[in-house]
Amino acid sequence: MIEIKDLNKVFEGRGGSHHALRDVNLTIEDGDIFGIIGQSGAGKSTLVRCINLLERPTSGSIVIDGKDITDYQGRDLLDLRAGIGMIFQHFSLFQQRTVLQNVMFPLELRKEPKAKREARARELLEAVGMAGYEERYPSELSGGQQQRVAIARALANDPKIMLCDEATSALDTRTTVAILNLLKEINEKLGVTMVVITHSLAVAQKICNRVAVIDYGEVVEEGRTVEVFANPQSSVTRELIEHDTLSAVVDVKKEAE
Ligand SMILES: Nc1ncnc2c1ncn2[C@@H]1O[C@H](COP(=O)(O)OP(=O)(O)OP(=O)(O)O)[C@@H](O)[C@H]1O
Ligand SMILES: [Mg+2]
Repeated sequence: MIEIKDLNKVFEGRGGSHHALRDVNLTIEDGDIFGIIGQSGAGKSTLVRCINLLERPTSGSIVIDGKDITDYQGRDLLDLRAGIGMIFQHFSLFQQRTVLQNVMFPLELRKEPKAKREARARELLEAVGMAGYEERYPSELSGGQQQRVAIARALANDPKIMLCDEATSALDTRTTVAILNLLKEINEKLGVTMVVITHSLAVAQKICNRVAVIDYGEVVEEGRTVEVFANPQSSVTRELIEHDTLSAVVDVKKEAE
């Protein structure tokens, strides 16, 4: 379970300070696929990056499985990050490494024999449908294939939690569905808890059992996905739903042309 308590994040910069998260309280249960939605700049990435301390909270705390991780440093911090997989919009694979070397990378910190690490990486690639691509370089793969490799790499340390920041935003509809199905399968088979940032309500509806809507750094609504979409309580959520319907109409028009 991930408990986010009274979380605040203030960025101090030359242009003054920016209050990116305000008194955020959220509980993400084991096995959830928890959606974070909101407009651009709402604070979604900042919130999720606080979970693995890529951002340090200004105040408040993050408790994972009963342990307050907010001030973790050194060895504890490394262990925490190793136990949390992360994937991004632009896949962020190492361009100079082959597919197999990318997936082996997180395992290199372990003191296991190379043969064992390689076997594990091959097994992961097989699991995400990328067997046969081991010796290719990222530039030789499609976006969907690169994201599969990134997912395999994120799974290398058997994480209990996976953070996905707009993981399907750069993909076409069909590839998006395939990647979402893969994430769902990982959630169900391996019991990995997922935190999924998306600006697409369709994505949230397809895989998230719960969602939180963030606006200007505040949680304005939270609940079971079906309930939030069927009966939105905040004007922000209604606006997001309206905007989503609009973009669907525009897509249909484009296809008709
Ligand atoms: N390192 C930083 N320094 C200063 N301000 C920052 C920093 N990182 C983020 N911010 C600001 O915090 C706010 C929230 O940013 P964040 O990246 O969390 O938004 P987001 O909801 O993920 O947006 P998007 O959907 O565009 O990715 C923005 O106004 C952003 O400019
Ligand atoms: Mg973001």
